[in-house]
Amino acid sequence: MDISGNTIFIPGSTSGIGLALALELQAKGNTVIVGGRRGDLLRRIADEHPGIDTVQIDTADSASIEAAAKDVLTRHPELNVLIAMAGIMRAEDWHRPEGFLETAASVITTNVLGPIRLIGAFVEHLQTRPDATIMTVSSGLAFTPLRVTPSYNASKAAIHMLSESIRLQLADTSVKVVELEPPAVQTDIVPGHAENPNAMPLEEFVTETMGLIESQPEATEIQVERVKFLRYGEVRGDYDQVVAVLNAADPHNR
Ligand SMILES: NC(=O)c1ccc[n+]([C@@H]2O[C@H](COP(=O)([O-])OP(=O)(O)OC[C@H]3O[C@@H](n4cnc5c(N)ncnc54)[C@H](OP(=O)(O)O)[C@@H]3O)[C@@H](O)[C@H]2O)c1
Repeated sequence: MDISGNTIFIPGSTSGIGLALALELQAKGNTVIVGGRRGDLLRRIADEHPGIDTVQIDTADSASIEAAAKDVLTRHPELNVLIAMAGIMRAEDWHRPEGFLETAASVITTNVLGPIRLIGAFVEHLQTRPDATIMTVSSGLAFTPLRVTPSYNASKAAIHMLSESIRLQLADTSVKVVELEPPAVQTDIVPGHAENPNAMPLEEFVTETMGLIESQPEATEIQVERVKFLRYGEVRGDYDQVVAVLNAADPHNR
C-alpha cells in the first residue's frame, strides 16, 4: 500500500498499536478514521488530533459492524484502506472447561469473527476503489505458541491463513491483502505488558513499521526485525528452541 494519500479506517485504534499507527499515518498525509468501543477515548482523540474522524464500533457485534460501516462509507466514500486492528489477548487454563471455554469464545469472536465480518462489510466497496488494501493483524504468536494464551495464538494463526487465502481470491481485483505481524509490543493488551522488558517499545515498532510500508509498498507481510525470531523458527529449523525460549523467558506474559 502507498504510505500517503489514502483514506483509512482502523477499527481498534483507540489505544496501543492502532492509535500510534493512526497518528503516524495521519502525519504522512492520509485521512484516518479511528474506531473502537471506548467513547471517552474516541472523544479525546478527536479533540486532540484535528482532522482525525472517529466512529464507535464493537467488532464482536455484527450489528455494530454493519452500522459503523454504513456510517464510515457515508462520511468517507473515498475510503480505500481497512486495517482490522481490534484484538484481545486473554490467559487461559485448558486443564478444565471453566479455565478456557468462555475466554476462548470471546477471543475467537473478537480476533477471528471480527475481522471476517469487517472484511464482509467493506470488501465490495473496496473493489470499487482503483487501489485498495485490507490490512489484517496477526502476531509472532501465529507462528510460535505462548503456553498461557492458546486461543489467542490460534486466532492469530487463523488470521495468517485467512490473509494468505483471501489474497489469492482477491488477486483479480484492485484489493491488496497485507498482513501486519507484530512481535511483542509494549501496549496495554494485557496488564503489565506496557512495561514488559521483553516487548518492543511501541514507538520503535511503529517507526519501523512505517518505514517498511514506505520502502516496500508491494509487501504482503509486514515484519519488523524483532518478529523474525518467532516467525521463521520452522523455516530455520530451530522451532523447538524458539518455543522453549519464548515460554521460558516470558511464561505469564508475551
Ligand atoms: N501488543 C502486542 O504485543 C501485540 C503483538 C502482536 C499482535 N498484536 C495485535 O495488535 C492489535 C492491537 O493490540 P494492542 O497491542 O495495540 O492492544 P490494545 O492497546 O489493547 O488495543 C486494542 C485495540 O482493539 C480495540 N478493541 C478490542 N476489542 C474490540 C472490540 N470488540 N470492538 C472494537 N474494538 C476493540 C480496543 O479498543 P476499545 O477497547 O476502545 O474497543 C483497542 O483500540 C491486536 O489485534 C493484537 O492482537 C499485539
